[in-house]
Amino acid sequence: MENSLEEREKELLAKIDPERLPGHVAIIMDGNGRWAKERGLPRSAGHRQGVETVREIVSCSHRLGIKVLTLFAFSTENWKRPAWEVNYLMSLPQQYLKKELPKLVEENVKVNLIGDPSRLPPPVQKAVNQGLEATRNNTGMVLNFALNYGSRMEIVRAVQGLLADIQEGRHKGPVTEEVFSRYLFTAGLPDPDLLIRTSGEYRLSNFLLWQLAYSELWFTRTYWPDFNRCHLLQAVYDYQQRERRFGKI
Ligand code: FPP
Repeated sequence: MENSLEEREKELLAKIDPERLPGHVAIIMDGNGRWAKERGLPRSAGHRQGVETVREIVSCSHRLGIKVLTLFAFSTENWKRPAWEVNYLMSLPQQYLKKELPKLVEENVKVNLIGDPSRLPPPVQKAVNQGLEATRNNTGMVLNFALNYGSRMEIVRAVQGLLADIQEGRHKGPVTEEVFSRYLFTAGLPDPDLLIRTSGEYRLSNFLLWQLAYSELWFTRTYWPDFNRCHLLQAVYDYQQRERRFGKI
């Protein structure tokens, strides 16, 4: 099994053009609950296995040369889940960073956060801040976690920030798309070139609505815990077969 995954990986790597990689890949990691249910396991087991997938995909993206990897880890809507599940999901960034941070530092990966950190439990804020601080000067792949992130909230906050800056004279001149983008959580990051969503759902679910305007969308029925590096490489290969016209002919 492992052998055939390696063979497939080799085949895909041989087909991928390293000069035309998507600079920014964003992923909606979906299907942890259904993966667990199909195995008669608690939902937490799906999330736990999902963290293993995060490790594999971070490592593969980094080796491939992706510049920015954005992972939708917790949405503003996820607070509506039962308290035990919210607590479990909230324990994952800490768990992940505790184990992976030394490797991320060494591999020159820069941790970043999009979303509103103020509602995150203090230990999560602390772990994330440690991750940000420890990788602050890294110049390699940006590993961007969307935590307590919702795109509509992001846009409303951007409008509020921009209005305040206009009223207080900090922003003068026209409000262009470029100016507006600077007020989003993703300020300074390029827009995603490729969006991946797992588990056979075909929705954006309030994720990066502004930033995905011209992204290529790639969907798979595979549940996130079963997603592996070959799925990622296949998505990158398929992306390279698409013609991006950005509205032109
Ligand atoms: C959606 O699956 C997944 C989530 C809400 C959480 C995603 C989080 C991870 C994969 C782990 C994050 C890891 C780190 C390191 C922060 P679902 O539970 O909605 O699945 P379902 O639709 O099948 O019920």
